Amino acid sequence: MVFFLSVMCILTGVSMASTIPFIDKEWELWKLMYGKSYPNLEEDQARRGIWLDNLEKIDAHNAQYLQGNTMYEMTMNQFGDLTPMEFANLYTDARISEMVNYTDDALFGFEMEELEEMEEINDLPQEVDWRKMHYVGKIKDQGMCLSCYAFTAVGALEGQLAKKKKQLIELSVQNIIDCSDEYRNFGCRGGLPYHAFQYIRDHGIESEQSYPYQAKKNDKCSFNNSKSVIKIKGFRRIKNYSEKQLAAVIRRVGPLSVLICSAHDSWRFYKSGILDNADCNNKKIDHAVLLIGYVDEHPTGYWIIKNSWGTSWGERGYIRLVKGKNMCKITHCASYPII
Ligand SMILES: *[C@@H]1O[C@H](CO)[C@@H](O)[C@H](O)[C@H]1NC(C)=O
Ligand SMILES: *[C@@H]1O[C@H](CO)[C@@H](O)[C@H](O)[C@H]1NC(C)=O
Ligand SMILES: *[C@@H]1O[C@H](CO)[C@@H](O)[C@H](O)[C@H]1NC(C)=O
Repeated sequence: MVFFLSVMCILTGVSMASTIPFIDKEWELWKLMYGKSYPNLEEDQARRGIWLDNLEKIDAHNAQYLQGNTMYEMTMNQFGDLTPMEFANLYTDARISEMVNYTDDALFGFEMEELEEMEEINDLPQEVDWRKMHYVGKIKDQGMCLSCYAFTAVGALEGQLAKKKKQLIELSVQNIIDCSDEYRNFGCRGGLPYHAFQYIRDHGIESEQSYPYQAKKNDKCSFNNSKSVIKIKGFRRIKNYSEKQLAAVIRRVGPLSVLICSAHDSWRFYKSGILDNADCNNKKIDHAVLLIGYVDEHPTGYWIIKNSWGTSWGERGYIRLVKGKNMCKITHCASYPII
């Protein structure tokens, strides 16, 4: 019954019997909106069933939101016709948690952040938002390609470049996808941000303009050294920090690449507000995003995160996560390039 809530305002005074065609109309509208079509009626009906299940879950959550029992709102979106399993397979990268191997990575000479350096930890501002300094490029959509690791790596580097040159230059995600196999990345089948940094350290990276995103991996790497925008000196990886330490690093450094858990309905259908859902902490690390700041506000502080699922997802492509609960394992592993 709960899913009727979202249509209540329109249906006030209309009898229940007329809601079924209304839902059919909603289904048709949703398909139109997201350009969905299915090979036959059977598939259409099967997808409609999944979509309706999702709609019910979303409306049940939003009823809680309206009663003030939760701080974030959910919404139907482009992911609505997928089961949780299908969504996880298509848009999140379960391999990330297996790929992060501290023992193995140590052999690659990763530098660890020095805790002792961070005196500012006791004197942090209430707010850090690197968008205000124009260190953060516009929201992108990874599409049907598990390239989150490349989007966040490029995002972190764009931030460092903007900080140094006072100019925001969009860098090529496609360059990473096509060319960083040797660094244990897998094109559109996943990878890690600091594997991308390692590639950029050794080769450089082109701009988004000269090597644009295609949401698929090409057989051939088209990197042209003379078009490279920047080569980095190295990178740092920060593991298992407290949230306070993470705040100190983001304040000092700029946007950071972080690994999180996202194969959860609260992420998938996130619309707005501050996500606080204990279930998000019980999942595996499966997604890489860009941490661009935080706000320490009463009663609820939050982290500000840039995702790569387009602007129609979340708060125009961004999400806020509650601070102080290691929400979605945000402190698991952060990294940033050194230029
Ligand atoms: C991590 O890497 C080390 C060194 O390559 C290897 O011995 C170990 O089995 C790996 N651990 C896991 C959990 O894969
Ligand atoms: C690489 O870029 C330079 C400068 O834009 C250009 O002159 C050259 O033809 C390019 N090389 C290849 C192989 O495309
Ligand atoms: C992470 O930090 C916590 C608390 O400081 C500690 O108990 C835990 O052993 C650490 N885990 C790893 C993998 O270092």
